[in-house]
Amino acid sequence: MVRLGIIGCGYWGPNLVRTFSEIEGVELVRVSDLRPGRRQFIAQRYPSLQTAADATDVLSDASIDAVIIATPPDTHCALALEALNRGKHVLVEKPLATNTADAGRIVELAARTQRTLMVGHLFLYAPAVMQINSLLREGELGAIYCISSMRCNLGPPNTQVDVLWDLAPHDISMILHLMDDAPTEVNAYGASFTNTRFAETVFITLRFADGRIAHIHVSWLTPAKTRLMQIIGSKRVVVYDDMQPVQKVQVFDPGIDNRVNASDKDSTALGFAPGGIWIPPLKSYEPLRAECEDFVTSIRTGRPPLSNGPKALEVVRVLEAASRSLLQGGHSVYTGAQSEATPVEVAR
Ligand SMILES: NC(=O)c1ccc[n+]([C@@H]2O[C@H](COP(=O)([O-])OP(=O)(O)OC[C@H]3O[C@@H](n4cnc5c(N)ncnc54)[C@H](O)[C@@H]3O)[C@@H](O)[C@H]2O)c1
Repeated sequence: MVRLGIIGCGYWGPNLVRTFSEIEGVELVRVSDLRPGRRQFIAQRYPSLQTAADATDVLSDASIDAVIIATPPDTHCALALEALNRGKHVLVEKPLATNTADAGRIVELAARTQRTLMVGHLFLYAPAVMQINSLLREGELGAIYCISSMRCNLGPPNTQVDVLWDLAPHDISMILHLMDDAPTEVNAYGASFTNTRFAETVFITLRFADGRIAHIHVSWLTPAKTRLMQIIGSKRVVVYDDMQPVQKVQVFDPGIDNRVNASDKDSTALGFAPGGIWIPPLKSYEPLRAECEDFVTSIRTGRPPLSNGPKALEVVRVLEAASRSLLQGGHSVYTGAQSEATPVEVAR
């Protein structure tokens, strides 16, 4: 039996309570939240679960094997370090921390104490992302040239971070996973219109050492919720629209385009059109369930989870570089990432 405690039960925490409480071989022992209303919310739905105001009641409970941290990002580092120092396995919600130095300290402590460290990069577990990654590794898409991603909805949530740190961890975690590399150069432009504290719409560009690029647009200004990613490969192109109830992933074969190099004698009309469009079947499961199960399996077996600490550290490194670029009006920030990828053929 793996015994768990959860710290933070605001908007997201209850999803973790529900999911972990449905997993066999897991016992949820205690949930802590500073707000009485949130403790009451949990107590009404899960009467057997103990609630506490103070996170120390979870952290100091020797019978608890692992702690899930779903508090605001600026509290993650202190809580994660304390949990690891007390010998707990830790699942931290995204982002792992609010700067690279803190994220590095957490990753280093988890390695030293040989505890599982996982970060809630939920989309790595999405059936669509699993399928796209398989197509990529099987060579169906060829080499990735570039990725563009858009994640927009209304905001801000109850947050102490800007839209970059709120929404972009998802896009960055997916892009680094699919690219199987970290970018060397980051640019970010952003603006705020309805508040003076936080950037609420941000455009980020990532450049990789081998010439590949990615672009992310995150925004709190769009009532039409958008989660759209396009992965341009040398053989095929994938359009991933997470807002579709089915058919989230479409794979486009090479298009037909006779506008270039058409001979003068050629009587056919000039034009372009997509090639065949293929919709791969996706497995049917809840990504959060897969994420939570991966955490429990990692604790039991000692094998690192898919969304592990070192990967999350790279996500924070990119977020920090983007933040710095944002402050510098979009100037390039170099991450110092070393790439071992083979350069792709990029026409310039
Ligand atoms: N994976 C996802 O898709 C996803 C979605 C939403 C939020 N999140 C992440 O979840 C985390 C929480 O976000 P949220 O939207 O639920 O925020 P929230 O503000 O709604 O909830 C956070 C809760 O933590 C509590 N809290 C803060 N400090 C505490 C402490 N020291 N001890 C006990 N309780 C404490 C607060 O009282 C609050 O109720 C963030 O890291 C966010 O990025 C992830």
